[in-house]
Amino acid sequence: MEDNDPNKTLQTYRDCVKNLVSAERYSHTLAVEQQAKKLAKIYGADEFKASAAAILHDIAKEMPPEEQLSLIEAAEVEFGENERQNQKLWHAAAGAAYAKSVLKVKDDEILNAILNHTTGRADMTLLEKIVLVADITSDDREYSDAENLRARAETSLEEVIAAYSVYIMAYLKENNLYISDKTKATFNCYSKFNK
Ligand SMILES: [Fe+2]
Ligand SMILES: [Fe+2]
Repeated sequence: MEDNDPNKTLQTYRDCVKNLVSAERYSHTLAVEQQAKKLAKIYGADEFKASAAAILHDIAKEMPPEEQLSLIEAAEVEFGENERQNQKLWHAAAGAAYAKSVLKVKDDEILNAILNHTTGRADMTLLEKIVLVADITSDDREYSDAENLRARAETSLEEVIAAYSVYIMAYLKENNLYISDKTKATFNCYSKFNK
């Protein structure tokens, strides 16, 4: 479904997401897209790819879990045995699977940015960092430190990833929740940037 006109392609993706998620999640999607575009400009990343990955990042979030799993299996996207343990992580792989198999997105950078937007991973690409940080710092985010992280996103993606990673690890430990290998890898790679 990739059109020669990038704006048309992006609109096709938006329309598709709009049909699959609630109005609230769709407005989150648009906010993440705006933030991803802004960060792509600041850091010199490809704006089309940043928009595309941001639009599609939560496309599978409201699909029933069985549907998410079958998408993942059919599209053969990377999905570790240990990621299976936490259902909240499925939508990232399922989103990449949907983009690949249904929307025919062929660009691995876009697919990997969708795939890794929840857990992160060690040594992320610029596009992966942008989508992860855009998801944390989009305008619709209202947690207590949101303003601070939004401002810091403009000067250091790593600092935002570090703050998020430190928070997430503490949260998962405190609540005795499963910590996936990629979540740990993100912490090990980026927590040194925490300020
Ligand atoms: Fe997500
Ligand atoms: Fe999101």
